[in-house]
Amino acid sequence: MKKKVYIETYGCQMNVADSETVAGIMQSREYIATDNITDADVIIINTCSVRDNAEKKIWNRLDHIKSLKRKNKNLKTGIIGCMAQRVGEKFLEHPAVDFVAGPDSYRSLPDLVDENDIAPVRTEFDINETYSGIEQVKIDNNIISGFIAITRGCNNFCSYCIVPYTRGRERSLDYKDILTEVKNLREKGFKELTLLGQNVNSYYFEEGDKKVNFPNLLRMVAETAPEMRIRFTTSHPKDFSDELIETMAAYKNICNHIHLPVQSGSNKILEKMNRKYTREWYLNRIEAIRSAIPDCGISTDLFCGFSGESEEDFQQTLDLMEQVKFDLAFMFKYSVRPETYAAKHFDDDVPEEIKIDRLNRMIKLQNKISLENNKADIGKSFEVLVEGYSKRSKKMLFGRTEQNKVVIFPAQNYKAGDFVNVKIIDATSATLKSEIIN
Ligand code: 5AD
Ligand code: SF4
Repeated sequence: MKKKVYIETYGCQMNVADSETVAGIMQSREYIATDNITDADVIIINTCSVRDNAEKKIWNRLDHIKSLKRKNKNLKTGIIGCMAQRVGEKFLEHPAVDFVAGPDSYRSLPDLVDENDIAPVRTEFDINETYSGIEQVKIDNNIISGFIAITRGCNNFCSYCIVPYTRGRERSLDYKDILTEVKNLREKGFKELTLLGQNVNSYYFEEGDKKVNFPNLLRMVAETAPEMRIRFTTSHPKDFSDELIETMAAYKNICNHIHLPVQSGSNKILEKMNRKYTREWYLNRIEAIRSAIPDCGISTDLFCGFSGESEEDFQQTLDLMEQVKFDLAFMFKYSVRPETYAAKHFDDDVPEEIKIDRLNRMIKLQNKISLENNKADIGKSFEVLVEGYSKRSKKMLFGRTEQNKVVIFPAQNYKAGDFVNVKIIDATSATLKSEIIN
């Protein structure tokens, strides 16, 4: 009988894609994925280190898993992902943990499960590891949206960020492997795919005379799957080129949505963050996007309370938010990450209560802006890709516009995976309410 592996995923979409790779690796070695934790022979937890509270969650979760292990003596638990890389061997001190594997070591997972080694920890980086040849296996039942990692790792070294230390140096996958995966998803009936990377704009693959940059790749993907929605994330403002904007505008199936993390509106703070762009450059990119693609949805990441952030610097962030009018923003407060440049060289000098106050002010402003933007959609029509039933009622479905806005509407006979044309009739800061028009 096949053994069962339960994979639990925290953090970003890259981790979601990695968990599917891990499921593929485990499946090739006599395991099948289960969605029932109490049924599992092996539990794998794919972790995130981006902020301290992401790591706290994992420690709490392990205390729970310890109790499952008391009931099932043969159960094995492994930690993978960014926190596995960062914490490494120390994880073995927790009674729930049997093995640890960092983001470049997933091929050795089946061996780690079977080994009764004293130090079953693999955290070596491998710049050549792109998991080429491994078929991703979907863990949830979502066969609508797929993810494809096109780059792994990161070379940017933003001074606050742990990712270059947990995921190693940037590498780009062979475009032929990417196109094969696009064809796979298309044949399986997926309706949407998202190309993933810490900085997709720096994708670059060279082989003989063939040189492929991100806009070239995006073009090939769009042409390989003309009826699928194509998305990509995350974009770094410093590398966001006019060529990319032109490519987006040229293909109907490339969604008019850009996630462009700005982090701060103050040039002083942006420089200290080592973001390598200014507020003016960022606003120029927004202008270029809006003039080529007027209906483009734009979202961002922002955080307050970085080292040295004065009230005036923070005001510049609020001011930038007002100027850009993001449709959606993911907002955080600064959390010192060990090993980073900022942890070593800068003081965490904004008091916690001021961080909280600034975060609340940011959230309040963004809610107001999102509401205004959403209200401006009332009366407009959109094509929506249905994702499932609304949380509140089985009579309503929800889906997304190409701008990535969430829309709800009466279910009628529609189902997840359908494309439906709707007209917006009402809006909150988080959702658009609509009626079907086809
Ligand atoms: N503290 C707070 N937020 C952070 N982010 C990354 N590192 C930190 C940190 N040390 C945020 C950034 C990034 C998003 C994924 O998380 O906004 O874009
Ligand atoms: Fe993803 Fe960054 Fe968290 Fe790693 S630390 S899982 S790259 S968000």
